[in-house]
Amino acid sequence: MGLVSLTASVILIGLLWKIAPGKTLPEMLGLTGAEGVVASRAELAAGSHNSPLPSAQCGSCHQQHYNQWRRSFHARSLTSDDFVRTFSQYLQSIGEQAREDPQSSMACLSCHAPLLKHAGPETIRQVGGFVLTRETKKLDGFEVGCVACHGAASRVFSGPIEKPQDNPFHLSTFSPSYKEASFCADCHTWTSPEIPCSNVYTDWKISRAAKRGATCQSCHMAETSGSAADGGPERKIHDHVFPGGRSAAMLRKAVELGLKADFRKDRLEVTATIRNLTPHRVPDG
Ligand code: HEC
Ligand code: HEC
Ligand code: HEC
Ligand code: HEC
Ligand code: HEC
Repeated sequence: MGLVSLTASVILIGLLWKIAPGKTLPEMLGLTGAEGVVASRAELAAGSHNSPLPSAQCGSCHQQHYNQWRRSFHARSLTSDDFVRTFSQYLQSIGEQAREDPQSSMACLSCHAPLLKHAGPETIRQVGGFVLTRETKKLDGFEVGCVACHGAASRVFSGPIEKPQDNPFHLSTFSPSYKEASFCADCHTWTSPEIPCSNVYTDWKISRAAKRGATCQSCHMAETSGSAADGGPERKIHDHVFPGGRSAAMLRKAVELGLKADFRKDRLEVTATIRNLTPHRVPDG
């Protein structure tokens, strides 16, 4: 279900891309049209590069989600030092001929820049170039951002709220897939042994956590009360920082350390046990 809706949204964006070459994604999504509304129209119109909608646009109403997401590793999927370095090493390793085919860089960009999946070769080539030259501003909106996870169709965003309030910027549609672990599977599963980025989904599927119904979201997107958009009603909302193995608080939850002391005649024997409480390997990745 998660895969279906995610794939559908990516294909739709892709189709829009194909039928309207030369337009920016915001234009294709109809967000700069006459009736295309609110906050940052000027900024959208000014965006000259072929950029999908920057997450900061969503932040004008979804301030809390934006401020949390901004600190997440999803926000850095194209700009972290490690990514830039390994992406460049990968391109060097495949040789000149393969390097010239923009499709080769999709071996990394399909997950690290998911909106590119159905973009034309020129856009893929440009984005790959901006990664290597660290033109981070031009990469806004291509990383694992709001639209990558919530885009459903032209100016329609899907999410877990069954009856979302109307707003002047976009239509909303409910999808139960946001509560399911399979929503994360697309990117958090190995595609090939050469790219061992994240295999947590495969581990999780056979774990005890999965059997008792503990989804990725239940551990990585803590539930609190608040409004989903500024001025919206009080609801259950979910943390968007996505803490993982680089978060001290998460690591403390990852293992249970047991110490048992026994006196044996004249000496003290201490047994330490470490129990992995996560449904995947510690550390993974
Ligand atoms: C199937 C999706 C997928 C593909 C394809 C993929 N990655 Fe990743 N990558 C991920 C995920 C998910 C993580 C986060 C894993 C974690 O932190 O446990 C990640 C993490 C990383 C990291 C560590 C985090 C960071 O930014 O410092 C690097 C570096 C990286 N990937 C580089 C690459 C390179 C280079 C390629 C292409 C050769 C690639 N990835 C292809 C999904 C993917
Ligand atoms: C003009 C303000 C505004 C802007 C800009 C805005 N939203 Fe929203 N959005 C709302 C409101 C209001 C709701 C309904 C909140 C509620 O019912 O609690 C909403 C709901 C949502 C939902 C929940 C849908 C559901 O059914 O679960 C998602 C997802 C969403 N927006 C994504 C986005 C994304 C992505 C962007 C940027 C491309 C964005 N929004 C920009 C005001 C806005
Ligand atoms: C469109 C692809 C995509 C989807 C969907 C996705 N992720 Fe990620 N995720 C990534 C990439 C790429 C990274 C690595 C970013 C980086 O550090 O370079 C990552 C990193 C992470 C990290 C940080 C890992 C660390 O080492 O700190 C966590 C936690 C995480 N994702 C959880 C989730 C959860 C939970 C879901 C489902 C709700 C999810 N992700 C859905 C692509 C994705
Ligand atoms: C890696 C995927 C991913 C990214 C990136 C992401 N979201 Fe979400 N979002 C989710 C998931 C999954 C849920 C549902 C969590 C649940 O119900 O357990 C959600 C829920 C929501 C909701 C409904 C209220 C709530 O908190 O449950 C809104 C609104 C929303 N996201 C807006 C945004 C905005 C705005 C951005 C960008 C700043 C963003 N999201 C980035 C995956 C993502
Ligand atoms: C029972 C709670 C729990 C569930 C369920 C869970 N995780 Fe985790 N996860 C953790 C904890 C705690 C850590 C930090 C320790 C570590 O790195 O393994 C973590 C770490 C991670 C990391 C970073 C790995 C690393 O070593 O950097 C990623 C990525 C991740 N989880 C994604 C997921 C995804 C995707 C799912 C669902 C398929 C999932 N997790 C299910 C608790 C959970």
